[in-house]
Amino acid sequence: LQHNFNNCQQICCLFLELTVSVVCFFLSTGNHHVSCPTPPIEAEEGDVAELQCRLDPSVDLRKETLDFTRADINKEVVHAYRHEKDQTDPQMDQYRDRTTLIHEDLIRGIISLNISSLNLTDSGLYTCYVPDLEASCTMNVTVGDLFFISPQHFLIFIQELRRIRGLVPLLVLVFFSLLLSSLFSESW
Ligand SMILES: *[C@@H]1O[C@H](CO)[C@@H](O)[C@H](O)[C@H]1NC(C)=O
Ligand SMILES: *[C@@H]1O[C@H](CO)[C@@H](O)[C@H](O)[C@H]1NC(C)=O
Ligand SMILES: *[C@@H]1O[C@H](CO)[C@@H](O)[C@H](O)[C@H]1NC(C)=O
Repeated sequence: LQHNFNNCQQICCLFLELTVSVVCFFLSTGNHHVSCPTPPIEAEEGDVAELQCRLDPSVDLRKETLDFTRADINKEVVHAYRHEKDQTDPQMDQYRDRTTLIHEDLIRGIISLNISSLNLTDSGLYTCYVPDLEASCTMNVTVGDLFFISPQHFLIFIQELRRIRGLVPLLVLVFFSLLLSSLFSESW
């Protein structure tokens, strides 16, 4: 009887393990999401832009298929990574030799793509996609020419102006003392 009981216990345990692993399997697929930075990424012509998206929860992505595409240009490929290698064939000519996927980050579930020698035509929407996990997100990249002033830059400028407003009385004082001293020196 004891023997039978042990057998039953083993079978029950096996059954439980199976159920748990099946549930885990379903939870682990499709339950990941990728997050992209929400404010537009701003960069200047000629600079490097770093496009980064993160898997949550984190997964080792080295063996995954990964794609960066232009959501606003027929999902054309900016950078592709398959079978643990960067693939140049599907890539748009516009991005040839300008993209670097940072492989060391993949193990931590971070997909970082550097695009160098930025051109105004690189402004647009970029989708970061992990097909096997059905996870994707889209980010907005704005490339400005060197004299480009973004709304954010303008706000910073206004804040700076406000910050130095406290100096105005001091500046007025300096101005008047200079004026007075010049008047005095004239009357001498
Ligand atoms: C990617 O770009 C960032 C920001 O410009 C830079 O700090 C980093 O060194 C670059 N990494 C590579 C591998 O080019
Ligand atoms: C930007 O890209 C366009 C189209 O690819 C090209 O005609 C132009 O010369 C590029 N501009 C610079 C500054 O590289
Ligand atoms: C992307 O950002 C630019 C600059 O902030 C903005 O003008 C544009 O409307 C944004 N595009 C989308 C689709 O959000």
